[in-house]
Amino acid sequence: MRDLPGSYRSLFPVLSTHVHLANCSQGALAAPVSEAMEEYHQRLLVTGNNWSEAMEKAEEARTRFAELIGAEAEEVAIVSSVSNAISAIATALPSHTEKNNIVFTDMDFPTVSHIWRAQTQFLHQVIRSRNGKIQLEQYEKEITANTLLTCVPHVYYYNGYKQDLKSIADVVHKKKSLLLVDAYQSSGNSVINVKEMEIDILITGTRKYMLGIPGVAFLYIKREVAEQFQPRVTGWLGQHPSSAFEIDQFALAQGAKRFETGTPSFISIYAANEAIKLLHKVGVSHIESYLEELTQFALNCGENKGLRIAGPLSIKERTSLTSFYVKNAQEAERVLRAKNILVSARKDVVRIAPHFYTEKAEIQYAIDELAKLE
Ligand SMILES: Cc1ncc(COP(=O)(O)O)c(C=O)c1O
Repeated sequence: MRDLPGSYRSLFPVLSTHVHLANCSQGALAAPVSEAMEEYHQRLLVTGNNWSEAMEKAEEARTRFAELIGAEAEEVAIVSSVSNAISAIATALPSHTEKNNIVFTDMDFPTVSHIWRAQTQFLHQVIRSRNGKIQLEQYEKEITANTLLTCVPHVYYYNGYKQDLKSIADVVHKKKSLLLVDAYQSSGNSVINVKEMEIDILITGTRKYMLGIPGVAFLYIKREVAEQFQPRVTGWLGQHPSSAFEIDQFALAQGAKRFETGTPSFISIYAANEAIKLLHKVGVSHIESYLEELTQFALNCGENKGLRIAGPLSIKERTSLTSFYVKNAQEAERVLRAKNILVSARKDVVRIAPHFYTEKAEIQYAIDELAKLE
């Protein structure tokens, strides 16, 4: 793993002045990603309407993302945010049978809870974490024959706890429920293979470890499952063909594309496409191994400084996100930012989230400065 971060650091201008450990919130912008955005902008500025070029770029991004998670391009829809994608699924589910219970967890990002609570056509049930984790037995117990869909995060955004998706999928499928995974805290830092993990639906955005900007998210839906959904949040790009311009036509596109609506944020797509290209080049399994090393290092540094760590301590149960309890997390984030150290506060913790371009010395420095505030 000695070759990371290596020469990749020079691709990220912000690293020359900042310690960038806020990847759980926003990844660092790479020069080629910035150039891709500039390309979109320049074409528009200089040659005018660039619709077909932009649509081609969207297809490139779709294919690259599909490859990243072991899916087919037809199983991926391009949407605008994770919230938007979950809402699209929530409003497309059949709601008139006895199987009308939605299970989610208290480790989900709050948007998940907000969206399901707004769907009054469904009952819902929240699985509560214990000591920052959810045991498989809890899924066994709480998912029943009436559970239509089970929604889980791959990684808990608060403490970095990483769930064993394949084991959860086995439980979910035994109860004939569908598994929806929010992978926003794992895509780009962890190997994901939707086929091997037997995930029915996976949603993620691109601005965190996927190194893009806001405005685009991806919705994977398994080929066999997609056709059962009748989106009610729809639009011309979710139709087949989208270019018919027939006011009386209503024919949902096949596969995941039926979840698309209107014109996407092309500039975000240009960024995502180039960012995923970079992730492929570095290799996600390579990134994952390097981050395991950095995580162990961060845990050791924190312990040496007497900081309290949130979530499990075993590397096998977590991602590279390490959360430290501090007296005033928001204030700590602000103080560190003033020293050009970028971290991210949530409730009572400060999250330190490195990526493949992070050096151990940066983690050490950030933790030393954080410990001074306690
Ligand atoms: C795990 C997770 N899910 C969802 C979201 C929200 O995503 P979006 O703003 O794209 O809806 C976040 C944002 O931080 C997140 O960490």
